[in-house]
Amino acid sequence: MNFDLSEEHEMIRSAARDFANNDLLPGVIERDENQEFPHNQIKKLGELGFMGMMVDPKYGGSGMDTISYVLAMEEISKIDASSSVVMSVNNSLVCWGLEKFGNEQQKQKYLNPLAKGEKIGAFCLSEPEAGSDATSQKTTAIDHGDYYILNGTKNWITNGSTASIYLVIAQTDINKGHKGINAFIVDKDSPGFTIGPKENKLGIRGSDTHSLMFSDVKIPKENRIGEDGFGFKFAMKTLSGGRIGIAAQALGIASGAYELSLQYSKERKSFGKEINKHQAIAFKLADMATQIDAARLMCLKAAWLKDNNKDYSKLSAMAKLYASEVAMKSTVEAVQIHGGYGFVKEYHVERLMRDAKITQIYEGTSEIQRIVISRSVLK
Ligand code: CAA
Repeated sequence: MNFDLSEEHEMIRSAARDFANNDLLPGVIERDENQEFPHNQIKKLGELGFMGMMVDPKYGGSGMDTISYVLAMEEISKIDASSSVVMSVNNSLVCWGLEKFGNEQQKQKYLNPLAKGEKIGAFCLSEPEAGSDATSQKTTAIDHGDYYILNGTKNWITNGSTASIYLVIAQTDINKGHKGINAFIVDKDSPGFTIGPKENKLGIRGSDTHSLMFSDVKIPKENRIGEDGFGFKFAMKTLSGGRIGIAAQALGIASGAYELSLQYSKERKSFGKEINKHQAIAFKLADMATQIDAARLMCLKAAWLKDNNKDYSKLSAMAKLYASEVAMKSTVEAVQIHGGYGFVKEYHVERLMRDAKITQIYEGTSEIQRIVISRSVLK
């Protein structure tokens, strides 16, 4: 077993770190405060090849592996989790789903601009009454021969207004349960498709989250992904990979908070010495470092399993469950270590604490990860 990163992986990590420090750090506090989408930064992420990292170059991607994706997600999330969620949804829910399950025509038309970062994608599964219980889709797509007619509402959609290409999950036959669900590619300019107001969120405030309404939207049959009835499995398989991205995002939030705390503990003095000379602070740093390393190993193992065509559903759920808990714990401790300074925006850790919470909710809550893991270990 070799824990060393290859030279190429080191280069990717260092490119992501440079980008995060040079392009994301300036203005991150203001973007959070003003709920401002990082348009220029996402454009540049695309130019650097980070929006379609794992996509084959013949479809406009960078042809990298999942390990590279985890490394980049960690670095970018250390600085700006609002940007990293845009990147994560585009890479692992939209591009991966299309490349793996789309047909050649769909890949040429839709995957290419997404993988190059020229367009942004959104993954639309959640509904007002179908969050965790994803089989209870109320959005319907009725078969009319050459086309489907889509009606319904989707909630909490990341990239809701900035996306141009939407992967929408809908019920096509209520009598068939999850086998009566399909996934469709929907263009933003489809008549009958409207975007609701932007959600005012606790964290990842620079990203845009919206509800989406579909009223008699006509979808050509060629925009269905996979065989009839494949939509639920499409969503589950895609989310299994997506969870590696969110686990890496949580890891980055935790390690960002840790690095800031470590630095601060060397600068701040109390009772006549640097605060890290007090065991109360040193032990907090020791716990953070230990848990972050464990979370990183889990993320990399899940990525390695995926890259080696092994079953990664359980590990991706474990990595997301654990890394998101570590993100929460580490960011709360980071605020505590910073004391009063931690409570003000300038020191970044309060934002990281707010951003951490969503990693325990989206792409499956912690409870959903436990369902996935327990079903796997009990079977
Ligand atoms: N891979 C392949 N197939 C899978 C699968 C997987 N990972 N998980 C389930 N399936 C299959 C099952 O094998 C079963 O198929 P068969 O009947 O042919 O055997 C079928 O799917 C139904 O599975 P279950 O019976 O397990 O379904 P369930 O109703 O019990 O639900 C669940 C399982 C794990 C709870 C699922 O509903 C789930 O993951 N819910 C959470 C949804 C979620 O993560 N939402 C996040 C929204 S997306 C988002 O947040 C994006 C964003 O913008 C950031």
